[in-house]
Amino acid sequence: MAQYSKTHLQLVKIAFIAILGCVGVAQALTVEVRDGNTTCIKAELSALISVVYSVSNGTRTARVPLPDSATLGGGSSCGGDGRAPSLVVTFGSGHSLGLRFSSDGNQYSVDNLTLEYNLSDSAIFPNSSSAGLVTLSTASAQILAGINTTYRCVSDSVVSLGGDGVSVTFSDVKMEAYMPGADLSQNETICTADQRATTQVLPTTSAPKTSSVTTAPAPTPPGTPEQGHYNVTNDNGTACLLAQMGLQLNLTYTSSSNTTVQQIVNLHPSQTRHTGSCDQTSATLWLLEDRTNLSFSFALNSTSNKYHLSGISLSAVWPDMSEPFSGSNGSLDYLRGTLGRSYMCSAEQTLSVLTAFSLNTFQLQVQPFGVSGEQFGAAEECQLDEDNMLIPIIVGAALAGLVLIVLIAYLIGRKRSHAGYQTI
Ligand SMILES: *[C@@H]1O[C@H](CO)[C@@H](O)[C@H](O)[C@H]1NC(C)=O
Ligand SMILES: *[C@@H]1O[C@H](CO)[C@@H](O)[C@H](O)[C@H]1NC(C)=O
Ligand SMILES: *[C@@H]1O[C@H](CO)[C@@H](O)[C@H](O)[C@H]1NC(C)=O
Ligand SMILES: *[C@@H]1O[C@H](CO)[C@@H](O)[C@H](O)[C@H]1NC(C)=O
Ligand SMILES: *[C@@H]1O[C@H](CO)[C@@H](O)[C@H](O)[C@H]1NC(C)=O
Ligand SMILES: *[C@@H]1O[C@H](CO)[C@@H](O)[C@H](O)[C@H]1NC(C)=O
Ligand SMILES: *[C@@H]1O[C@H](CO)[C@@H](O)[C@H](O)[C@H]1NC(C)=O
Ligand SMILES: *[C@@H]1O[C@H](CO)[C@@H](O)[C@H](O)[C@H]1NC(C)=O
Ligand SMILES: *[C@@H]1O[C@H](CO)[C@@H](O)[C@H](O)[C@H]1NC(C)=O
Ligand SMILES: *[C@@H]1O[C@H](CO)[C@@H](O)[C@H](O)[C@H]1NC(C)=O
Ligand SMILES: *[C@@H]1O[C@H](CO)[C@@H](O)[C@H](O)[C@H]1NC(C)=O
Ligand SMILES: *[C@@H]1O[C@H](CO)[C@@H](O)[C@H](O)[C@H]1NC(C)=O
Repeated sequence: MAQYSKTHLQLVKIAFIAILGCVGVAQALTVEVRDGNTTCIKAELSALISVVYSVSNGTRTARVPLPDSATLGGGSSCGGDGRAPSLVVTFGSGHSLGLRFSSDGNQYSVDNLTLEYNLSDSAIFPNSSSAGLVTLSTASAQILAGINTTYRCVSDSVVSLGGDGVSVTFSDVKMEAYMPGADLSQNETICTADQRATTQVLPTTSAPKTSSVTTAPAPTPPGTPEQGHYNVTNDNGTACLLAQMGLQLNLTYTSSSNTTVQQIVNLHPSQTRHTGSCDQTSATLWLLEDRTNLSFSFALNSTSNKYHLSGISLSAVWPDMSEPFSGSNGSLDYLRGTLGRSYMCSAEQTLSVLTAFSLNTFQLQVQPFGVSGEQFGAAEECQLDEDNMLIPIIVGAALAGLVLIVLIAYLIGRKRSHAGYQTI
């Protein structure tokens, strides 16, 4: 009987976590780090942790909000003695999230975000095929603020750890390190995502009190996306994948008010970080924007020496989504080219990935394999470009024909009138 109710409780707990995860409602946590009577770090934040883990027949995704029962962990410190100021919160069976700060005197930032999770915790990772602690960290948490100011970010910001489907999504963040007093500074550094959201929707200076719903990007269709340059380099510093393109996402999703939204969103090169990897027969390019994470996988057939774009994956946590979007297709066959040459398509091209997701490319040139001298090889043009080239050729030929006809007509006319003069 006792056994039964314990299992029952655990199931309720799993269901609760699952519901919270799906709806994306994260709880708010307030913590502070002190050294004696001095407060050095204070944070109010919500975070949703998303982990893809292995089960016997594939992978599953666990989504866990950082619970408000999380407590300050042992690694927390105000710094000094060669240590950096750190905020570590622990929760559940040995899970923790740690933020380490650094400062140059004018600004402070999170220079190391570390997530530690315990795969043995079957309430969060049911049926996990491995057990024990996993530790992942990243140096780019995108949290940066002026000294003596509070960092504020209402919008969601996704920090990915390791690129294998592990991420932390922060929202409703108010945080300060290197605090001059015991309370959060009145002066605030607003994150760029909020600045964009408020200039689009709320042109007044009043701070948006709540929710991400008001910060939804305006539904006006964006123009042609700007071309970005995304080169991937090997460990030894040589370029192994060259890419330049303008990208536009076409995504259909369910909004938080339960309506179906189709949104066209351009990728902004200046706000996009990129990374990737290359080996003999596969190459990957990752593009990371605030709330959007896009990857391209290229494959090389070493028998035929032909390559193609074989996979695209997208995860997006946009403000008015009812739940984060995550989708991929690994059996695509786009951008076919030959080893040592580049693939080029100046015209707009639509790459269908899933029914709810397609990608429009503009002014594209890629070379995922056989790059030498950091330069694109000879370009193989797409059919669309060749078709577009045909039009000027046809028009040109028609014009030339017309000129020829006029000339012949003139010559004939001249000969005739000449002949006329002679008879007179
Ligand atoms: C902290 O403050 C209390 C009372 O305000 C004082 O008695 C105590 O000495 C202080 N401790 C330190 C380390 O400054
Ligand atoms: C794995 O097994 C579980 C339970 O048997 C099932 O619900 C799930 O759909 C399976 N997943 C895949 C990818 O086959
Ligand atoms: C991981 O979880 C298991 C099961 O809940 C627990 O026995 C173990 O102590 C946890 N490990 C740590 C380091 O907390
Ligand atoms: C997965 O875990 C649940 C309970 O956590 C258990 O009932 C089920 O049998 C497990 N499935 C597999 C395939 O191990
Ligand atoms: C973050 O800090 C941990 C612990 O000090 C370290 O092991 C890890 O390499 C750091 N990560 C990065 C990306 O610097
Ligand atoms: C921050 O505030 C402290 C205490 O008010 C002051 O000493 C320091 O000069 C300030 N730093 C900057 C960069 O404004
Ligand atoms: C806010 O910042 C401005 C300019 O940096 C400074 O003059 C002002 O004193 C600050 N206000 C507070 C309350 O710290
Ligand atoms: C760099 O590494 C790649 C493979 O990792 C190799 O093919 C290439 O020759 C190396 N280039 C240099 C300059 O060492
Ligand atoms: C976006 O996708 C929808 C459905 O696939 C399609 O009807 C629409 O034309 C696309 N819009 C753009 C701008 O690509
Ligand atoms: C959303 O709409 C669908 C169909 O329109 C409906 O079945 C579902 O119950 C709605 N969900 C919520 C949370 O309102
Ligand atoms: C590679 O190309 C060869 C020749 O075109 C073809 O027979 C083979 O099936 C291809 N291999 C793969 C993995 O696609
Ligand atoms: C990427 O490589 C291309 C071709 O060599 C070059 O024109 C471009 O400047 C490079 N971009 C960056 C950001 O390195």
